[in-house]
Amino acid sequence: MTASNRSSSRVVVVTGASAGLGSQIATAMVKRGLARTIVLTARRLDRLESLAQTLRHIDPALRVLTIPTDLADHDAPARLARQTLQETGGIDVLINNAGLGLPTLFADGVPEQLQDQLTVNFTAPLMLTRLLLPSLIERRGTVINIGSAITCVANSALGAYGATKAGLAYWNDALRRELAGTGVAVCLVEPGPIHTEFMTALAGRVAEGSEPNSILDNAKPWMTARVEDVAARVVGLIERPRRRVSYTKRFVWTFRAVGAFCWLFPAIGDWFVVKLSRGRGFNS
Ligand SMILES: NC(=O)c1ccc[n+]([C@@H]2O[C@H](COP(=O)([O-])OP(=O)(O)OC[C@H]3O[C@@H](n4cnc5c(N)ncnc54)[C@H](OP(=O)(O)O)[C@@H]3O)[C@@H](O)[C@H]2O)c1
Repeated sequence: MTASNRSSSRVVVVTGASAGLGSQIATAMVKRGLARTIVLTARRLDRLESLAQTLRHIDPALRVLTIPTDLADHDAPARLARQTLQETGGIDVLINNAGLGLPTLFADGVPEQLQDQLTVNFTAPLMLTRLLLPSLIERRGTVINIGSAITCVANSALGAYGATKAGLAYWNDALRRELAGTGVAVCLVEPGPIHTEFMTALAGRVAEGSEPNSILDNAKPWMTARVEDVAARVVGLIERPRRRVSYTKRFVWTFRAVGAFCWLFPAIGDWFVVKLSRGRGFNS
């Protein structure tokens, strides 16, 4: 059976579709025939157009819309939601995937970059969901939020990043409860490390000002998940929604174990996490 004759009638929005997980999610979804219309958004239009071409090749019946958007701009969610609804008439699935990490210590962070990170990772998904919610409720749709396993243990090198993901997780659970009975599914995916540009960007920036042996440079295959595997897990939620999914076969259990240890023994936990971060060139 080809993708086109399996295509459902779903209209899907994927943020952060120009690279990494977002691009793989879009591809996996189209390969599985789970979308009739797909809205791809990120800042890099050339990447979105190239992905759109690939997706049309996989499923010639697919409608693909590319909407370049900088989610760090406070008005972006409103513009994106308006254009999406005008062009599609309504959506069934929203995947809040766009996100970025800044591996500086909080005290060294450039305030403008920190603000952008908070906006892209936290404010934008909430606002976009709020603006598209009437349509999602009407069509008994699905919201999938991409969080992070980093929330298991507060990491001194990625404090602001982890805070955005912890906030996202709290809101995800609250929204799921608020929408109980409406038919809208709300799912959180919490991956551990994945090899994408996200990791490359962190490793590059870490290496600039410190020893080159960051945990990211040293990330072993057993620590990192394949982006295709995580994408498959995300796409599976469209047909079988679950509250929370982590990529447990890989590194996530380690975060959980360290988090539980820190909760039980806070003083030793602080010592251990600081030592680990400094030993890895993350910290001063
Ligand atoms: N990689 C990991 O180890 C890992 C682990 C756990 C969770 N995650 C989460 O997984 C999600 C996807 O990350 P990834 O690994 O696929 O990273 P990635 O390869 O760096 O892709 C990030 C995506 O977000 C988009 N984005 C960044 N800033 C944006 C902005 N201001 N406006 C609009 N879009 C923006 C990028 O597009 P443009 O640059 O074209 O705008 C890109 O498409 C993120 O939420 C990340 O926090 C990643």
